[in-house]
Amino acid sequence: MPCSVTINNVSAEYPTAQGGLVKALDRLSFHIEPGEFVTLVGSSGCGKSTALRLIAGLIHPTSGFVYVDQERINKPSLRVGIMFQDSNLMPWRTVQDNISLPLELRGVRRKERYAQVEALLPILGLKGFAKAYPGQLSGGMSQRVALGRLLIQQPDVMLLDEPFGALDALTRERLSLDLLRVWHTQNLTVLMVTHDINEAVLLSDRVIVLSQRPGHVKLDLPISLARPRHPSDLYSEAFGSLVSQVRTALDL
Ligand SMILES: Nc1ncnc2c1ncn2[C@@H]1O[C@H](COP(=O)(O)OP(=O)(O)OP(=O)(O)O)[C@@H](O)[C@H]1O
Ligand SMILES: [Mg+2]
Repeated sequence: MPCSVTINNVSAEYPTAQGGLVKALDRLSFHIEPGEFVTLVGSSGCGKSTALRLIAGLIHPTSGFVYVDQERINKPSLRVGIMFQDSNLMPWRTVQDNISLPLELRGVRRKERYAQVEALLPILGLKGFAKAYPGQLSGGMSQRVALGRLLIQQPDVMLLDEPFGALDALTRERLSLDLLRVWHTQNLTVLMVTHDINEAVLLSDRVIVLSQRPGHVKLDLPISLARPRHPSDLYSEAFGSLVSQVRTALDL
């Protein structure tokens, strides 16, 4: 079941090399409804990855609260899956062994693991690649494997930190539309960080723009374009106006 995410008045700091503290987030608040697809944009260093790490329970806020449904997050939870920019695959393991790693760690038997991978491969567009090694895959395929490793945990919330950052524009567009399909069929709540404003508007139900560090919400823009979305949406007037609202909030 998809669940809601609530960030309530959250501040976060990191220690600096000089022994001081740098404030990454300042009283950040937002709420994501169950099943929503929300993107987070903002200039480099404004605290986007920090926000994802907080929701994943990898770090703790200095003040404020993070909730997934009614559950207060203070440690990693199986309900929340996170994917970093780097696909982080293990080069010595095949595609099926990379995707099924979380199940292996949970002690699921190999036959069951591989059966679950087989079911996922077509959704990921990786049919026939179960036994390939990461070195034999393109960048886009590696990101699909990383997405598979996340999906196999059946999280209720998926946090994606610039999942397509390193890819060329065409692959990126294809993969992001594939991601929409996965989101739709798997019934998930998604929070994704991207630097690409077009991508943010094309995919999202809402785009949240963070201010410069320390980040707080500068704009929370609902995207009411009809679904399913299509790359040709990029050329509509409504699309252009949404993009320019995001750009203005970003001071571009
Ligand atoms: N591990 C860390 N140790 C110390 N300071 C950190 C650490 N991680 C982040 N910071 C600080 O917190 C701020 C926010 O970092 P964060 O990684 O959340 O930014 P971001 O919005 O994801 O940036 P980018 O778009 O470049 O990925 C940064 O400006 C940096 O100064
Ligand atoms: Mg980041």
